[in-house]
Amino acid sequence: MTFIHGGQLEKIKQQFPHTKQAWIDLSTGVSPFSYPMDPQSNLDSQNLPQYHAALNNAAAAYYGSNELLLTPGSMWSIQNLPLIRRLLHGDDNRPVLIPKQGFNEHKKAWQAWGFDIELYNHEPSVEQLMSAQACVIINPNNPTGKLFKHDQLANIHKILSAHNAYLIVDEAFLDLSPESSMASYAHKHNLIILKSFGKFFGLPGLRVGALIAQQDILHEARKLLNEWSISSVAQTTAIHAFLDIQWCAQQTTNIKTASKRLSELLKSVGFDTQGTELFQTHYSDYAKSLYEYLLSHAIYVRLLDDESGVRFGLPKYESEWGRFENALLEFKQSTANKVLTLKTTNYKKAEPA
Ligand SMILES: Cc1ncc(COP(=O)(O)O)c(C=O)c1O
Repeated sequence: MTFIHGGQLEKIKQQFPHTKQAWIDLSTGVSPFSYPMDPQSNLDSQNLPQYHAALNNAAAAYYGSNELLLTPGSMWSIQNLPLIRRLLHGDDNRPVLIPKQGFNEHKKAWQAWGFDIELYNHEPSVEQLMSAQACVIINPNNPTGKLFKHDQLANIHKILSAHNAYLIVDEAFLDLSPESSMASYAHKHNLIILKSFGKFFGLPGLRVGALIAQQDILHEARKLLNEWSISSVAQTTAIHAFLDIQWCAQQTTNIKTASKRLSELLKSVGFDTQGTELFQTHYSDYAKSLYEYLLSHAIYVRLLDDESGVRFGLPKYESEWGRFENALLEFKQSTANKVLTLKTTNYKKAEPA
């Protein structure tokens, strides 16, 4: 079976052409509840997209910073920050610090531009920070869920900025804890914050994100960004969504309720987990067999790249919760039986003939 990332249900279906049941997709950390799209917004597509000041204003109010540029997803910034760094600072041999476990596209982007990468475990050390030209922190981390506190990040930023190095904070999963955001510090030099619209609003296909940083960085980014990068439908929907305080409050409650239910379900089948409100990760030696077992039951979850764990997104419908719970219980039962058989076999082998 070929390895497949999260959010690739079509590829999964091709690998399991005989599956009769409807697929349950828990492979991403995207909210299963989406901001309702106005059918009228289709009309917007009859015009070329124009960059609306209203979009900037709505995003600025939602994220708490005026120093921002709307982008087609935060992926756009992830892919373009290495180039922006080079355009602004020229050649620099110092490494870029990236978390060992974390959304892999950061590493890929810097590597593609020929930057040296140094991986850190959990937190970068002071020595690493002193000798780097940039440090990426995913806050909270996907998939580990590790959350850096504000003063920790402020301290990291101080060390980096003292030698003109960037702190890049990827806040794709931070909408539910806005108090931990670094967005209000964006007036500081060498601080870059990435926002993803798709996760909290449950609309990753619209491709909306934001780059929050000082004007010199935004200026370079603007030059690289095509006028038509964010479709008209995406702009109209995002303006409504960012300003819809009531919907956002309800969405927060809905996600928190589902998140609690997921943690409790996983705990009840004996799985330790860590994560965020939008996903839970279970590290274990049997991650790969669990992943394959669930696939064979038409449930698609995310196996981590190093196969050390499995990440679960939030189910949406009651029927999905039910099937997911049953599959987990059956898996537990089948592994318990296997361990029992193994133990019995070992015991028999040890018996004198
Ligand atoms: C940590 C993290 N950052 C950024 C992204 C990119 O999100 P988008 O480009 O949809 O905003 C993802 C996508 O899964 C992610 O997990």
